[in-house]
Parts: sequence; C-alpha cells; structure tokens
Amino acid sequence: MKTLILSSSLSAHSRSYLLCRAVADALKDRAEIDFVDLREYELAPYHRGKTEDMRRLSRQVAAADNYVLGMAVYDYSVNDSLKIVLDNCFSGVEGKFFGIVCAAGGLRSYLSTMHLTQICMNEWRMIQLPRVIYATGADFDGDTICNEDLLQRIHTFAGEFHSIGKKLLS
Ligand SMILES: Cc1cc2nc3c(=O)[nH]c(=O)nc-3n(C[C@H](O)[C@H](O)[C@H](O)COP(=O)(O)O)c2cc1C
Repeated sequence: MKTLILSSSLSAHSRSYLLCRAVADALKDRAEIDFVDLREYELAPYHRGKTEDMRRLSRQVAAADNYVLGMAVYDYSVNDSLKIVLDNCFSGVEGKFFGIVCAAGGLRSYLSTMHLTQICMNEWRMIQLPRVIYATGADFDGDTICNEDLLQRIHTFAGEFHSIGKKLLS
C-alpha cells in the first residue's frame, strides 16, 4: 500500500506538519510512505501555469494508492496552498481513499474539514476515513504534541487508515 502524506501548510512552524509527521511515524512499518512537505515545492495559482514542482507533485499524487491530507484552517475552510494542489495536481485520484489531519487556531472551526471532504467526494468520488484528526495550539508545546489524548487519536487514526485502506485495495 503506497500512501502519500501531504503536509500542505507553508508555515515555518506548521502544526499540521507535526500531525502529518506523527501519522507517518505510526504508519511507517505498515505502508510505503511518500511524504510531501509542500514548503519544499514551488507553487503557482491555476492561471499562472504549472511549475516543474507541481508537475512532479501531480505524478506523485497519481502514483499513490491513498492519501493523508494535512490541512490548516484558513477562514473556516482549506488553506490556500492545499487548494492550489487540489485545483492543479490532483490527477489519478478517482475513487481512492483518504484521511484528513487538520490544525486550527480554535475548536470552533472543526467543521472546516468538511470543505475538503466535499471537494474530494464531489470532484473525484473519493472515499474518506470517517475519523478526522483535529488539533489546536493548545495541543502543542513548541514542536511537540503534548496532548496524550491527541496522540492516542493519531494512533487510532493510523490503525484504521491502514486496515480500511488495505481492504479497499484487495
Ligand atoms: C489566513 C488565516 C486564516 C485563519 N483562519 C482560521 C479560522 O477560520 N479558524 C481557526 O480556528 N483558525 C484559523 N487560523 C489559524 C490556523 O488554522 C492555525 O494557525 C493553524 O495552526 C495553521 O496550521 P499550520 O500550523 O499547519 O500552518 C487562520 C490562520 C491564517 C493564517
């Protein structure tokens, strides 16, 4: 099972990146992980044309069996850099399985992940793991996840992602 983990925040101190890393650690012995840190890619909006990095990312996306999508909440919706990837680099994803990990400023924005659900389901008939990792600043101490409950939820998320992801491939 080839899993692409997409950390889409461009923030130097990204918390969704830390969540993606934790999921990658939990999955590493059970899946072949392609970890994408979008901070290392040059991006351009749709009408500016694709960069070479975006073409490379499109190939990585198409080659994966399933996806863990790391998002940051921006204005109760998906972050801008993730939207660029969805609009420009999501090819070969039809019907594939995905899970969402999300960092936000506060608890009240938890429904923002539904926008990502809508895009993936309506545009590509993708199938979502019915469990979202949602964290806020209170769950972190610097670069460390300090909430034991969140760590347990990441563990559960990875276990379910692996077992359902594998079944969907057989
Ligand atoms: C432009 C912008 C809009 C934001 N809007 C929201 C919001 O609507 N709700 C919320 O809870 N946090 C909001 N935040 C806070 C981010 O979700 C929070 O900083 C989160 O940690 C970002 O993820 P990252 O650390 O992976 O970059 C916003 C941040 C930015 C920069």
